[in-house]
Amino acid sequence: MTTLITGATGLTGTLFLKRLAEIKPNTEVSCLVRETSNRSKIDHLNLKINYYIGDSKTAETWDRIFAQSNFEIIIHIVQLNQVPVLINSLKKAQQTPHLIIIGTTGIYSKYNRYSQEYKDAEKELLTYSGTYCLLRPTMIYGSPQDQNLHKLVKFCDRYKFFPVFGSGNTLLQPIHADDIAQTLVKAWQFPNIQGAYDLSGASIVNFRELLTIVSKLLAKPVYHLYFPLNIGITIATLLESILGDKSPVRREQILRLQEDKAYSHESAKNDLDFEPRTLEVGLQQEIELMRNQGII
Ligand SMILES: NC(=O)c1ccc[n+]([C@@H]2O[C@H](COP(=O)([O-])OP(=O)(O)OC[C@H]3O[C@@H](n4cnc5c(N)ncnc54)[C@H](OP(=O)(O)O)[C@@H]3O)[C@@H](O)[C@H]2O)c1
Repeated sequence: MTTLITGATGLTGTLFLKRLAEIKPNTEVSCLVRETSNRSKIDHLNLKINYYIGDSKTAETWDRIFAQSNFEIIIHIVQLNQVPVLINSLKKAQQTPHLIIIGTTGIYSKYNRYSQEYKDAEKELLTYSGTYCLLRPTMIYGSPQDQNLHKLVKFCDRYKFFPVFGSGNTLLQPIHADDIAQTLVKAWQFPNIQGAYDLSGASIVNFRELLTIVSKLLAKPVYHLYFPLNIGITIATLLESILGDKSPVRREQILRLQEDKAYSHESAKNDLDFEPRTLEVGLQQEIELMRNQGII
């Protein structure tokens, strides 16, 4: 199967290629990476990797690639909102590879400002004349590369407290990146598995329970510092406007603290043998990695 992968140098992408190299060593794959992407993360894997350099959000990149090559499968990990550009270029090139797309359960958010672009992209996917498998992860964690729990663990380890905005009762069901990677391999091996699947972790916890697990695994107290939600929104907005991407917290994350983010993965379990790890096991692995790398 000729396969093109985007996002191969990211958290989920590197773990996917690692799993692929273990299960099907020497597989030939193509990766669309940026000029600046750190290819050393995947170059050493037991795979035959052919690189395309470009920007997956631009039609120019896709048009250039499809003028040169015709793939049987495209695994698009980078961003769901780039799907319309990808599909449009495929239409122009009259190609219909099987698409495996990483989406997000963020599509279920009641905050339209954040979910609308995902809804638009999924709507576009429905118009695609080829086949596809859409995997929608919840919050991803699992390595110092993750943008979510890694920061929380680091903060708790250093300061022994964590702010809780609102009641801390809303539900979370984070997914380990390696569980997504294994599901991607399955979806790649079986292109007849089609449709949309939510991918959530094995544990449903509220925010206070999450802090309790982190405290137990760090073997340190983590005190909960309660703040009204509005204060959190103001602080996050300020931090984002001053620090931009470097802000430890995004306004969206605080707003979405009011929403339960637990989603059933029953369909993925039935069709893709999806068996995610528990949060305690996944966090234990992440904390071990952070300790080995001297981050905590
Ligand atoms: N993080 C979450 O909690 C979460 C939750 C639900 C869904 N998702 C979705 O899950 C997917 C994987 O997330 P992740 O955390 O594994 O990603 P990640 O670690 O942030 O990696 C992103 C990857 O995409 C590449 N990339 C970004 N923009 C690109 C562009 N314009 N052109 C070409 N390549 C580009 C990056 O390349 P470089 O190496 O050059 O940076 C990197 O390889 C994403 O679609 C994300 O939206 C994430």
